[in-house]
Amino acid sequence: MFQLKWLWQNLKGDRARYIIALCLSVIVSSLTIVNPYIGQQIVDTFIVGKDAAQNLAQERSLLIWLCLAMIGFSLLRSGMAYYTSIQYEKSSQNMLYRVRIDLYNKIQGQDMRYYDQNRTGDLMTRMTGDLDMVRHSLAWIIKTIIESLTIFVAAVVFFFTIDSELTLWLLLLSPFILVVAYLFAKHVRPMYVDLRERLSQLNTITQENIAGNRVVKAFAREEYEIEKFTEKNVNYSTANKKAALVWLDYFPYLETFAQGFNVILLLAGGLFVMNGRITFGEYAAFSSLIWGLSNPMRNIGIIINDFQRFFASVTKIMEVYYAHPEIANKHLPVGTRRYKGAIRFDRVSFKYDSTKVLDNISFTVEPGETIAIMGATGAGKTSLINLIPRFYDVSEGRVLVDGVDVRKLELDELRGNIGIATQDVLLFSDTIDGNIAYGVPELPEEETIAFARLAAAHEFITRMPQGYDTVVGERGVGLSGGQKQRIALARAMAVRPPILILDDTTSAVDLETEEHIQQSLRELDFPCTKIIIAQRVSTTAAADRILILENGRVIEDGTHAELLAKRGYYYDVFVLQNEGIGRQVNAHGNS
Ligand SMILES: Nc1ncnc2c1ncn2[C@@H]1O[C@H](COP(=O)(O)OP(=O)(O)O)[C@@H](O)[C@H]1O
Ligand SMILES: [Mg+2]
Repeated sequence: MFQLKWLWQNLKGDRARYIIALCLSVIVSSLTIVNPYIGQQIVDTFIVGKDAAQNLAQERSLLIWLCLAMIGFSLLRSGMAYYTSIQYEKSSQNMLYRVRIDLYNKIQGQDMRYYDQNRTGDLMTRMTGDLDMVRHSLAWIIKTIIESLTIFVAAVVFFFTIDSELTLWLLLLSPFILVVAYLFAKHVRPMYVDLRERLSQLNTITQENIAGNRVVKAFAREEYEIEKFTEKNVNYSTANKKAALVWLDYFPYLETFAQGFNVILLLAGGLFVMNGRITFGEYAAFSSLIWGLSNPMRNIGIIINDFQRFFASVTKIMEVYYAHPEIANKHLPVGTRRYKGAIRFDRVSFKYDSTKVLDNISFTVEPGETIAIMGATGAGKTSLINLIPRFYDVSEGRVLVDGVDVRKLELDELRGNIGIATQDVLLFSDTIDGNIAYGVPELPEEETIAFARLAAAHEFITRMPQGYDTVVGERGVGLSGGQKQRIALARAMAVRPPILILDDTTSAVDLETEEHIQQSLRELDFPCTKIIIAQRVSTTAAADRILILENGRVIEDGTHAELLAKRGYYYDVFVLQNEGIGRQVNAHGNS
């Protein structure tokens, strides 16, 4: 019952409220026996008893009082039940609110590997449907269990005080019901685990489709996507029906047993009344409270159903809750120190799963140097730079910044010292202004403009209808690839980082614009070590050193002139690009 313990932990702050609600549930449920008891008195005293007629004439005020008491208790019970429901609702909503924040923080704190392994749709399912199922269990399932149990026990106790033999006859049915309920629970549990998984798949497909609708449209694959979605939808729906049908398999037995209570009461109770063993009033009390035995038995099925759903959901949530990112801040932030910007790779190897993506890489970059990295796609360039801000950790060797292993540095501080423009640009649905200032929210407007100028973005931004206040759509929809890259570059530079990493950031801009950006990078007004991944020799030529990567190894390393003299990979690329340069210059347009 680790899951329940987890629930209890997260109720912190509302535990008192929840316990009060539970106690009230018990009291309200126990009070259900009061009215049948009063009813029994009324029947025996005023309706069928020996002195009924006499009592009716003489004790009229007692009768009225008893009737008023019945009404009063009903009102009291309703009022308390109302108040109790509010308490359940409040405490469960508060818990939901807290767990949701916690969960969101947990997800934010996960490292890149976690995002490689978990689908967005699945994480969304956890944040929404699963969380609500947990709230439901707290506010409804546990409440129903407590109330059913209390009513059951109260009814049994009450019945025992009237006639133990008749009560035992009635209880004869309970073991059978429990056995059926147990079988049902065992049968249905894996189904809900499966159901939950299918829902997550459905959400994943939906999320990917909405996020990728441009690609879908570009390839006119709507039909195919709808088919894919339909398949998942059918899957989910079928699983749902299957689980519901299982319930129908067991329901008749539970219902028959529940009805059995009435039958036994009718037979045994009737016999006892005729024998004079119990009074008619006592029979009436049994009859008016028999639902206190049969209803909980009926509820067992529903409770089990919901409980299995709860377990399927809470397990998924706890997975997030207890997932420890391998790469995480070890200590509290200690304020941000500005690094000098020295970087060293010391015999670094790296793998995502089993295959080596980087193999024994060593190089050093002094503060203020510019180093260019070139290589075919898939050579490992992005993987290499991802190791510096610890998006991933090395498999072997060390990455050192300012002479310290990055794994020993404060993570926030390390990342705060690195400005990075990633290969696939992601802008937020915010103003251009807000996107550029993402890393430095308090950046003054004139500096935002200055950085936009450096990134050769100022001009096209001012040409937009609302200039810097233009809201770019989700992921920067409405901007060209080159425009997005330039905003991302301005965003990276705006933090004035001692280490600036550009991953293919100028690949989609024209040569003239690129020239401008190269110039800006040389003239930054803050000390900055630059690592620039690029495909164009025009970008790499001015770097202090160029690394050529192939299949995760450094195959060439030197200055532009040195590498040309080597007549290797770099030389070939140089020749190829210079042959084509005439064509490129003629063809370049605004991207
Ligand atoms: N998140 C990832 N999980 C598993 N493999 C990856 C991941 N990212 C990249 N790879 C693999 O690592 C290799 C190097 O990729 P990458 O560093 O992106 O190359 P480059 O940036 O030079 O194009 C490729 O074979 C690629 O398939
Ligand atoms: Mg790459």
